[in-house]
Amino acid sequence: MGNDVRFITRNFGKYDPMSIDSYLSIGGYAGLKRAMAMDGEDIASLIAEAKVKGRGGAAYDMGRKWSQSRAVKAPHKVVICNADEGETCTFKDRELIKNDPFNLIEAITICGYTVNAQDGYIYLREEYRHLRPLLLNAIKQAEEKNLLGDNIQNAGFNFHIHLYSGAGAYVCGEGTALIRSIEGKAGRPRKKPPFMKVSGLYALPTCVNNVESFSIVPHLLIDDEREYISYGSGESLGTKLVSLGGNVRRPGVYEIPFGTTVRDIIYDLGQGIPGGQSLRLIQFGGASGKISDGRILDTPYTYDDLKAAGVTVGSGSILVVDSRTSVLDFLRMTQDFFSEESCGQCTPCREGNLHIKIILDKMARGEATQADIRDMKKIATIMSISSLCGLGESAQNALLSAMKIFPKIFEIGGVA
Ligand SMILES: Cc1cc2nc3c(=O)[nH]c(=O)nc-3n(C[C@H](O)[C@H](O)[C@H](O)COP(=O)(O)O)c2cc1C
Ligand code: SF4
Repeated sequence: MGNDVRFITRNFGKYDPMSIDSYLSIGGYAGLKRAMAMDGEDIASLIAEAKVKGRGGAAYDMGRKWSQSRAVKAPHKVVICNADEGETCTFKDRELIKNDPFNLIEAITICGYTVNAQDGYIYLREEYRHLRPLLLNAIKQAEEKNLLGDNIQNAGFNFHIHLYSGAGAYVCGEGTALIRSIEGKAGRPRKKPPFMKVSGLYALPTCVNNVESFSIVPHLLIDDEREYISYGSGESLGTKLVSLGGNVRRPGVYEIPFGTTVRDIIYDLGQGIPGGQSLRLIQFGGASGKISDGRILDTPYTYDDLKAAGVTVGSGSILVVDSRTSVLDFLRMTQDFFSEESCGQCTPCREGNLHIKIILDKMARGEATQADIRDMKKIATIMSISSLCGLGESAQNALLSAMKIFPKIFEIGGVA
């Protein structure tokens, strides 16, 4: 992994991920100690002032979420770390767990302290089962050092962390489906309200955050030089982990300051497209993300700039596709993914995904009519406004953005 800056990833390679003593020797747990001397509301404010947005996809204001969770009064509350990382081309959370598991355990504990929770759960995607021993070891060693468990640091704070594994369903990254999966039920999303912060896991008030979101917090708490907010600008302060993949010479996870251009990420950090091929398209934020073409290269990677350019940060992935893959084939692959991963619970998503796939396949065979294209757009639009969960709402982002960026492909007789 190469880095542009190191704030969230500053511990990578500096300690033995199997040893808490090694972590403590580089200053580990200073964040929790600082936190436990603070009022929870001040911790939430610190995160809000740094304008940290959730890194799981929806970019919800994290300080606000912690403050809202804290405000819910209940004798038993829980915190969940979403380590499902199911978006395509997204692998930053894996690197955070692999290289810095103790920082994650510390961060979840800080969240527990902030929102007054007694239990934390890590929901780890099935494909990351090789990381289970690492996390179980980190939990055990933190308990042995009285940094987790009952009466942490003899301050009367009780907090336990439990590790759960998914069974390989993309939809289980959605908060309510994830909760049902932990409860042993079929991993299907449910309607909101009630919101999870009021009634989540086992009907207890629940605060859910992504691995990267959590991982920022211990560093932020001891950032006396205010280094984090010296990066980026406006609503996009700090740094971000991006998972760069596809047709690039040096795929990997890079920590970038917000504001780095897309060109610098792909052509400097990623060293460009191999084999003399040209750029066909870039997809931002996983399979549910929108796509663009080379016109986006000089856009700074910030929430606002990407939005203005028609895409979003989403899961933080950047998938580069070169000219050997046609836009149509790319969309058909994306559609296969969603047809497979739809949980089938609601009609727009279950039927819509299948019908769009049928039309895209017709296009590939040269049999689609202009009426088919109109129907496809209509179905995609209906799905985005009437599906029960984020999967159905965003499954057609790639298609709808492709229709804007590559309109000629959707004119019958056009070229892919
Ligand atoms: C279909 C679907 C899949 C999702 N998968 C993930 C995932 O793998 N990891 C994740 O952190 N968030 C995922 N999310 C977003 C979560 O629902 C939730 O917003 C997030 O975990 C909250 O954490 P954050 O505020 O720190 O981003 C997914 C959402 C949807 C609709
Ligand atoms: S939108 Fe799709 S994944 Fe979500 S509940 Fe409906 S069928 Fe299931």
